[in-house]
Amino acid sequence: MTLRGCFITLEGLDGAGKSTHANWMAGWLREAGIDLLETREPGGTPLGEQLRELVLHQAMDLRTETLLMFAARNEHWNTRIRPALERGQWVLCDRYTDASFAYQGGGRELGAPAIRVLEDWVQQGQGPDCTFLFDVPLETARARLQQGRAAADRFEQEGAAFFERTRQAYHARVADDPARFRLIDARRSIPDIREHLASALRDLLKTHGGDAAQSATRGGA
Ligand code: ADP
Ligand code: TYD
Repeated sequence: MTLRGCFITLEGLDGAGKSTHANWMAGWLREAGIDLLETREPGGTPLGEQLRELVLHQAMDLRTETLLMFAARNEHWNTRIRPALERGQWVLCDRYTDASFAYQGGGRELGAPAIRVLEDWVQQGQGPDCTFLFDVPLETARARLQQGRAAADRFEQEGAAFFERTRQAYHARVADDPARFRLIDARRSIPDIREHLASALRDLLKTHGGDAAQSATRGGA
């Protein structure tokens, strides 16, 4: 069956501002008349949310961690994301497979080839239409996390070198597939970023939207 909806993912280091903007983008899209599924990874299904608890808090071997990310993703893709796209809904997902390339492949140094095997196996050539990468220097991400967070999970506890490798691996993903990515300079103020996001969303409505696109592109940010 054809995937009629548009699949959007949000990526970036912990503290970059994804969650802040995810809610705002979801509201913007709904206002524009889009029937939207807002979801996240790891998680997004009852089983996926249980796996999330494990991978965020339980020590485990790196391959186990990677397989659990993809186990949750397989469930999410097959039971929620793909059916939604087939029905014509749009999907906005806070993190997806680029996070596995960045965190397991880069941060934890598993390397991209192993992730690519799992990506092919689970996704079979299907993936996001558009990915917003919220890019910030490590120090900015850290400072924001410290402001806004309680207990750090297994990833947030990692050191600077881990997050430098993670950020580099995200940049390698952009270099591999520049047409899919919108790189957001997330050092800027929230209103500035929103302006940029609104313009990118209007472009997406033009290329993917039907009737909703016509009315939304007439409106402002
Ligand atoms: P993420 O989901 O990427 O981990 P959050 O959206 O939770 O990040 O943001 C982390 C913290 O940084 C929050 O306290 C949020 O209010 C703040 N924040 C997000 N974006 C910005 C920004 N552009 N400028 C200043 N603070 C921001
Ligand atoms: P996230 O939901 O962004 O956490 P928060 O909103 O609390 O910042 O993601 C949780 C962590 O999971 C994050 O540190 C990145 C990590 N992660 C991976 O390591 N690999 C993956 O494939 C995914 C989807 C997330």
